[in-house]
Amino acid sequence: MKRIRGLLFSLIAGAAIGYAFLSNVRAGDEASPVFGVTIPSGYRTWQLVSVHSTKGYLKAIWGNPTALQAYLHKTLPFPDGTVLVKQTWRSVALNSVPAADISGPQDHIQVMVKNSKKYAKTGGWGFGEWVNGVVSGAAREQSCFPCHTQNAQVRGNDFVFTTYSP
Ligand code: HEC
Repeated sequence: MKRIRGLLFSLIAGAAIGYAFLSNVRAGDEASPVFGVTIPSGYRTWQLVSVHSTKGYLKAIWGNPTALQAYLHKTLPFPDGTVLVKQTWRSVALNSVPAADISGPQDHIQVMVKNSKKYAKTGGWGFGEWVNGVVSGAAREQSCFPCHTQNAQVRGNDFVFTTYSP
């Protein structure tokens, strides 16, 4: 019995390693558990919508071409296919220049994808977050939309806080 269990375990472990190897699964590739959102490849070549900071962190908001069209033509709601990525780094002091903070290691990535049918219950938006490349759990993901509906201004802007910085 023990031997069979051992054999079964080796088979399953081997299959899992083989799968990961063949499909080249990396931590950051994992889809968000509730919405099934992934980190879009190539988002670093998208246009910069704006930059934000909160104490200790610097953030860039990237928009895909669909997002940019909506921003530039000031059309709301954002159309299906819109993707917004918020990339966050820790801010670190540049010792050689007092009062200058620059981006340190990356902290987390958050993604919002518009699909009005699939995500009808959350204003048409699907959410995902990765901290150090590891996808956040379902509870954290459930907290995204409630905060993105927190005031009249964000509700009136299709649940998006960021406006375009020319
Ligand atoms: C406590 C409130 C709060 C929670 C929870 C929250 N957000 Fe946000 N989010 C904000 C605010 C405020 C901004 C704009 C300012 C900033 O970036 O710090 C923002 C900006 C964003 C942006 C850029 C587009 C926009 O709306 O401005 C994305 C993408 C985003 N959040 C995704 C997420 C995801 C994914 C989650 C859940 C894992 C999440 N947010 C949870 C408040 C929140």
